[in-house]
Amino acid sequence: MNVLGIETSCDECSAAVVADGNRILSNVIATQIELHRPFDGVVPELASRLHTQWISQVVQAALMQAGLTKEDIDAVAVTNRPGLLGSLLVGVNFAKGLAASLDIPLIGIDHIRAHLYAPQIEHPLEYPYLGVLLSGGHTVICRVDSYDSVEVLGTTIDDAIGEAFDKVAKHYGLGYPGGVMIDRLAQNGDPMAFRFSGPDLSKGYHPYDLSYSGLKTAVINQLDMFSTGKPATPENIAASFQRVAVGMLMKNVDKALKDTGLKRISAGGGVAANSLVRSSLKKYEEQGCEVSFPSLKLCTDNGAMVAGLGYRYLKDGIVSGMDLSASARVAAFKKA
Ligand code: KG4
Ligand code: ZN
Repeated sequence: MNVLGIETSCDECSAAVVADGNRILSNVIATQIELHRPFDGVVPELASRLHTQWISQVVQAALMQAGLTKEDIDAVAVTNRPGLLGSLLVGVNFAKGLAASLDIPLIGIDHIRAHLYAPQIEHPLEYPYLGVLLSGGHTVICRVDSYDSVEVLGTTIDDAIGEAFDKVAKHYGLGYPGGVMIDRLAQNGDPMAFRFSGPDLSKGYHPYDLSYSGLKTAVINQLDMFSTGKPATPENIAASFQRVAVGMLMKNVDKALKDTGLKRISAGGGVAANSLVRSSLKKYEEQGCEVSFPSLKLCTDNGAMVAGLGYRYLKDGIVSGMDLSASARVAAFKKA
């Protein structure tokens, strides 16, 4: 069974063909990063226009690299939520047209479930596991019981972790995408140069919720208040910010692992590429946990995770109608 996966939820225009849910025949990712760089962030209107221009060629390239024609495709899976509405609509409408013209099933895919499914493609991880989704738009700690069953334990109550990385980098002119630059600069900085701290969410929030807005504001507007007298170099700011951003995440991951008794962890999303996130999570292997990261290409937005997850739904006979719509909003996941 060959499933074509289409992903256009943000600034990556991607299409992939995955056979039988686990053989990636192609995974073409046309990134718009360079075109958004002058603005130090994703411009939604520009993103949707570029998707419109690129989608047809990206899908053709995915078929060609897979050595297939469109007649060899058994179903089309497409991200339909959450994300930038204009961008999502480009993928959804393209997928609908293709599925209708080939008379094959259409499958709408939730972007968060797709990120959480990504590790299953390369190194299948037994369910259940603790899923840690860290991206520019989402920060979710959850229990993953199956490809479709996700119980959210905690989310950010304001900014996503990647957004905080990007905004801090933008303010200090560190480059774009900000997360990558901060990760790089932090390697040569003193993480204790600034004594930022995490928020106190002990009252009124779920026990695993996170908040990044206060930390972001502190790093951007209140640097002096947290100074230890060390120089305010990009390296020191990056390392000090990263220590706290990742530290507060790890505190909640730790709590979630203890409370749920889960022994497997998988992280996904662009910030799962962060070296401190990876080394911090890897330490759980010493406690007998199985820790899995999708390869970097499957951490960031890609069509393969969409096609892979699409196959699972297809096998279970769960497909979408031609009335499939796009939504910017996160679906309601059960919250513990
Ligand atoms: O998953 P993704 O490609 O797109 C969304 O769904 O948002 O994640 C993009 C985010 C950006 O905020 C980017 O700065 C961040 O991932 N990122 C990183 C690293 N690489 C990408 N953040 C920290 N460290 C990195 N090495
Ligand atoms: Zn994503």
